[in-house]
Amino acid sequence: MVQHERDCTFIILHLTQIMTSTEFRKAAHELVDWMADYMDNVGDYPVKPDIKPGDIKVQLPSSAPEQGEEFQSIFSDFNNIILPGITHWQHPQFAAYFPSGTSGPSVLAEMLSSTMGAQCMIWLTSPSAEELEERMMEWVRDMLGLPKEFIGVIQDSSSSSTLVALLTAREAHTHYAINKAGFEGKGKFRVYTSEQAHSSVDKGVKIAGFGIENLVKIEVDDSFAIIPDALESAIKNDLEAGYIPLCVVSTIGTTSSTAVDPVRAIGEICAKYKCWHHIDASYSGAALLIPSMRWMSDGVELADSFVFNPHKWMLTNFDCSAYFVKDKKALINTFSILPEYLKTPQDHLVNNYRDWSIPLGRRFRALKLWFVIRSYGVDGLRKIIEDHINIGQWLKKEIEKERDFEILAPVPVNLICFRYHPAGMTNEEELNRINTILLEGLNQTGKILLTQTKLNGKYTVRFVSGNSNTSLEEVKKSWDMITDFARKIKI
Ligand SMILES: Cc1ncc(COP(=O)(O)O)c(C=O)c1O
Repeated sequence: MVQHERDCTFIILHLTQIMTSTEFRKAAHELVDWMADYMDNVGDYPVKPDIKPGDIKVQLPSSAPEQGEEFQSIFSDFNNIILPGITHWQHPQFAAYFPSGTSGPSVLAEMLSSTMGAQCMIWLTSPSAEELEERMMEWVRDMLGLPKEFIGVIQDSSSSSTLVALLTAREAHTHYAINKAGFEGKGKFRVYTSEQAHSSVDKGVKIAGFGIENLVKIEVDDSFAIIPDALESAIKNDLEAGYIPLCVVSTIGTTSSTAVDPVRAIGEICAKYKCWHHIDASYSGAALLIPSMRWMSDGVELADSFVFNPHKWMLTNFDCSAYFVKDKKALINTFSILPEYLKTPQDHLVNNYRDWSIPLGRRFRALKLWFVIRSYGVDGLRKIIEDHINIGQWLKKEIEKERDFEILAPVPVNLICFRYHPAGMTNEEELNRINTILLEGLNQTGKILLTQTKLNGKYTVRFVSGNSNTSLEEVKKSWDMITDFARKIKI
C-alpha cells in the first residue's frame, strides 16, 4: 500500500446517520410551524437589531464542537443567538435599499431544492433543472415584453450578470483573443455608464481587466438619467484619443433614485459605434410586467444584454438574477471550458449552463421561479407590483402636500427620495445634518428601516414601497413615524 492510501476497514464503523428521517420529519414540522409564525409575526421584531459589532460572534464557541449536538440545542441557539442579530428584510416597515422579496411558494421550492441537493451544472446532472430553467427564462422574457431573440440564464446576482456582459463584450469584440492570449497589444478599452450607475459596474470593469480609469461616467440630466449627447461626445473623444469604445451599461432604475436612462437613444449610439449595450434593470425590471410601464424599456430590442433580479421585487427569494443575451454563441464562447470529466453524450443537443456563467456548480433556482409564477400567475404578480407602485405614488403625493418636506427626484416607480426641509432653513450643511439625525434616529427605534443617498450633494432619505409585506396601511404608519420624528428634532 502506498503511503497516502489508508486502510478503510475500520472507518466504516464510524459512519453513523446524523439525523434519521424520523428525526428529520419531527424537526422539519417544528421548523415549518416556526416559519409560518415568522411570516405572520415578522412585524413584531425590531426591523434592525440593536447590537454592536462583535456581539454575536462573542456568543459563538471559538472552535467547532468535537461531538455532534442535538437539533433542539442548535435550534435553541438559533433563537437565542442568531435571531436577535437578524435584520428583518420582510418586516412591513423595511423600506431600505431595494427589497429582497420572498413568498411562501418560493420558500417551499427552496425546501425541495435543498432536500434533493441537486447541483445543476450541466443537463446531465439534472435534466429537469436545465429544461425548467430554459422554459422559465422564456416565460420571464415574455412576461417583461423583452424581444424574442433574448436567451436567458439564471445568475446569482446582477453584479455577476453585469460582469458576464462585460466579459462577453470584451471577447466578442476581440474574437476571443483576450481569453486566448491576454490583453497585450489589444489596445485600451473604454466602458461607459452613468454617474448614477450601480457600483457593480465599477466592480465588473475592475475584474474584467479594463482598469477602473477606463470606466467613463457620463453626466446625467435633472432626472438623473444619462444625457445621450454627453455619451456620444465621450465616445468621439475617446476614438480621437485612440481608445476602443467597447460597452455602454445603461440603467432602468438606478439605485439612488430609480432614474431611467434613455435606452433607445443609448442603443442607437451603441449601434453607431459598435459598442455592446448592457441594460441593468436589477430592481425596476419587475415593473415591466405592467405594459404601461414599458416606456422604461423602449429600445430594449437594440440592446445586447439585459439583467433583472426576480429576487428583488418579484417574490422570489435570494438568489435569482435573470440575465438575457442576444448572441448566445458569444456568451458560450466566452465561458465555455470542456475538460474530459465534464463531457457528456448530449453536449451538442442541450444547454449546459456551466458555460453560461462564472461558477461551474449551480443551484436549482428555476424551481422557485416556477413555483412563484404558477402560484400567483402573471396577473397576480402584475397586480402586486402595480399596488406597490400605487402605494409609492400615494406616498409621493403625501410628501408633496407637506410644506416642511420635499421630494428630491422623480418617482417613476416606487422609490421616493425626499428630505425634511423646515421652513426658512437654507443652509445645505444644516439640512444634511438634520436629515442624518432623522434617518439615524428613526432606524434606532427599531420600528422602521430606511437608507440614504446623496443627490446633487443633498443628503436624501430613500423610501422603497416594494417589499413583499408592503401595504398602504403599513406605509401610512411609516409616514406618520417619519413626520412625528422629524418635527420633534431640535433645530
Ligand atoms: C441598479 C442595480 N444594479 C445592480 C445591483 C446589484 O445587485 P446584486 O446584489 O444582485 O448584485 C443593485 C443592487 O441593489 C442595483 O440597485
